[in-house]
Amino acid sequence: MDITIRLENDQDYFKVEELTREAFWNLYIPGCDEHYLCHILRDHNDFIRELDYVAEIDGNIVGSIMYTKSMLIGDDQENVEIVSFGPLCVHPDYQRMGIGTALIEKTKKIVQGRNIPGIIIYGDPHNYCKHGFKNGIDYNVSNMDGEFPLGLLVLETLPGFFGNRNWKIKQSDAYNFDNSKVVEFDKKFKKKEKKVKYSQELFKMQVRAYLKKFS
Ligand SMILES: CC(C)(COP(=O)(O)OP(=O)(O)OC[C@H]1O[C@@H](n2cnc3c(N)ncnc32)[C@H](O)[C@@H]1OP(=O)(O)O)[C@@H](O)C(=O)NCCC(=O)NCCS
Repeated sequence: MDITIRLENDQDYFKVEELTREAFWNLYIPGCDEHYLCHILRDHNDFIRELDYVAEIDGNIVGSIMYTKSMLIGDDQENVEIVSFGPLCVHPDYQRMGIGTALIEKTKKIVQGRNIPGIIIYGDPHNYCKHGFKNGIDYNVSNMDGEFPLGLLVLETLPGFFGNRNWKIKQSDAYNFDNSKVVEFDKKFKKKEKKVKYSQELFKMQVRAYLKKFS
């Protein structure tokens, strides 16, 4: 099976949104909103076109990764631009074949080549620790409230960069989109049933979980 990892182009937009909807549907909430996020992200100032990749098999798009600029704020108020990805997804029929890994590895190399010191995301640790991500607490990287959410994950792409300083991460406001627009947007796609699933309960626990420093 040959997988091609290539930049997204404008012919791909709707296909990527369909794929994203298939991958996230009913996983974290009944339905999903990540396909709407893809749709609006591409026009946002923080969107990074050079890191907008798709995975293709036999001419079909089966995976997608999108990046935005984020700001890392040091305890001396120094601002450092870093990057975040999301949505990242692989079509359910093609998961567990290494496609997600290929998308992360391809884009990680580009990030390293551009001397960007880190990739910081909110995600399920299960998906990312195997790629070298650690919780923010291990690099003293907190959210803007000084907390260490379980899902705040850091990959140091410039070894030693985070050092002994304290950092806060300010993600792009692209992720604070208006959810009320999703219902209307979803009408562009084939009808799918919203369901309650236990994965949504796990997700609700994860987003309320925080790590604590012991002195
Ligand atoms: C998360 C996601 C992007 C991962 O993509 P993927 O292509 O399945 O990822 P990979 O195949 O590289 O790795 C997944 C697992 O398959 C395993 N795997 C990879 N290649 C394999 C192969 N050839 N045979 C068997 N297993 C394989 C990996 O070791 C990994 O195992 P683990 O979960 O036990 O650690 C995908 O599952 C997805 O789209 N999920 C829904 C959307 C989502 O949650 N996105 C992330 C938001 S945080």
